[in-house]
Amino acid sequence: MSTETERARKLLMIKLVSHPNIIEHSLKVRRKALEIGRRLLKRGFKVDLELLEIGSYLHDIGRSVTQDVRHGIESGKILRKLNFPERVIRMVERHVGAGITAEEAGKLGLPNKNFVPETLEEKILSYADKFFESELVFGNENGEETVERREVEYDSIEPTLKKFRKIFGSKSPVVLRLEKLKDEMENYLN
Ligand SMILES: [Fe+2]
Repeated sequence: MSTETERARKLLMIKLVSHPNIIEHSLKVRRKALEIGRRLLKRGFKVDLELLEIGSYLHDIGRSVTQDVRHGIESGKILRKLNFPERVIRMVERHVGAGITAEEAGKLGLPNKNFVPETLEEKILSYADKFFESELVFGNENGEETVERREVEYDSIEPTLKKFRKIFGSKSPVVLRLEKLKDEMENYLN
């Protein structure tokens, strides 16, 4: 592991020490993103695995500040203060949904900037993140009903798309953008 990667991993542990579920999520997204990155490398794509790993570790550190749609930008702010390279900052800023356009960002009260993933590493991270959904899992322990919120890993991003359609509407730009990202990545992978 490179020094930069080690620095990213440590920063994740420090920033999210009181959010172990988000640390766990970030580790899973790292594993998924690297798996996709390696498959694309084998297919002849140029993928910077180190950048992908660092971005995966750090994409959600902004959740130490907010859980809402601004968390990607907050991740970027934290990294900018710590002098991380701009290509890492752009990755974390652009992972939310399938990205946020400048126009949508303006409406959300975010900086009027394009936050749509453009590089392959940015797209892989955003895509890998969507394989995971937090679900309520019901159980029964010695006759006692139990419920817990647990993150479930799916074998496609379809469940996330379904959730997005329910929230935003199936013709919304947010959903169309995620469908486009899914098609693009599946084309590269299959
Ligand atoms: Fe996120």
